[in-house]
Amino acid sequence: MIRAAALLLLLAAAPLRASDAPYVSTPMSVVDAMLEIAQVGPQDYLIDLGSGDGRIPLRAATRFGARGFGVEIEPNLVRDANAAAKKQGVADKVRFEARDLFDTDVSKATVLTTYLFQSLNLRLRPYLLAKLQPGARVVTHEFHFGNWQPDRKITITAPDKPYGDPRSDVMLWIVPANFSGQWRVSVAGEAERELRLDQRFQMLSGGFAGKGSVEGRVNGNTLRLVLAGEAYSGVLDGDTIRGEFSRSGAAPQAWRAQRIQRGRIDVDAGTETPFKSGSPMGDSR
Ligand SMILES: C[S@@+](CC[C@H](N)C(=O)[O-])C[C@H]1O[C@@H](n2cnc3c(N)ncnc32)[C@H](O)[C@@H]1O
Repeated sequence: MIRAAALLLLLAAAPLRASDAPYVSTPMSVVDAMLEIAQVGPQDYLIDLGSGDGRIPLRAATRFGARGFGVEIEPNLVRDANAAAKKQGVADKVRFEARDLFDTDVSKATVLTTYLFQSLNLRLRPYLLAKLQPGARVVTHEFHFGNWQPDRKITITAPDKPYGDPRSDVMLWIVPANFSGQWRVSVAGEAERELRLDQRFQMLSGGFAGKGSVEGRVNGNTLRLVLAGEAYSGVLDGDTIRGEFSRSGAAPQAWRAQRIQRGRIDVDAGTETPFKSGSPMGDSR
């Protein structure tokens, strides 16, 4: 009887399956830097994939009033994290679940954090780009997303780091909306022109028909484009961009573009086959 109870306790504490990364906690100074670089606030819903003792969602709730969710493969860590949420008075805002991070619906996250190996980030990359809303912020401690370049990167001293150099990289990515495709551009008093935009992650390239190339960058639902002597900014709403442009120092003018053919963001999808069929991570945009 006692042996059966002990076995049950052992089983309850066993991981769901082998962990993909060891448990090493992010130093609190780095946690704060991660939350600050993402400008976390009370309106945010933060998900930490591989949440360990829960410190990132817990800190987001206690310091910034955000709601949060953590998934972790080690049930003991999940139990401790939920107990900490109660103790810190944020159990109504933050919840932890014992589950595989690769079977987690992230679509409602406005901020997503990871401290996982780069190989795991790379497996997550197409899924995050497909499921997170444009403008969602992805923040990592130490490990990046390959050729999806961070929108911001800082290095901070972390004297309480348990291994290696007492310094940590903190990186931020803003999930880009899809601006790719063929557009019809209108400016008051001018003939309509066609613009082609190709998009690789948050970077834009392309050109107006017969008029040089444009380079640009996406930040959530907004874009900035430049070509010789002209600069465009705009906000995407469905298949319409509205914004301002300026030409050789002249006063800014309104511009508008209507998409006539939608393209796909080049996210290097297809180079990996990371997800189990039937998992919420199994499909892409
Ligand atoms: C480096 S720790 C980071 C902990 C916490 N996010 C932090 O920054 O302090 C990585 C965590 O991911 C968990 N983990 C590894 N593979 C996982 C998986 N497939 N699903 C969920 N959690 C996983 C590990 O158990 C470990 O606690």
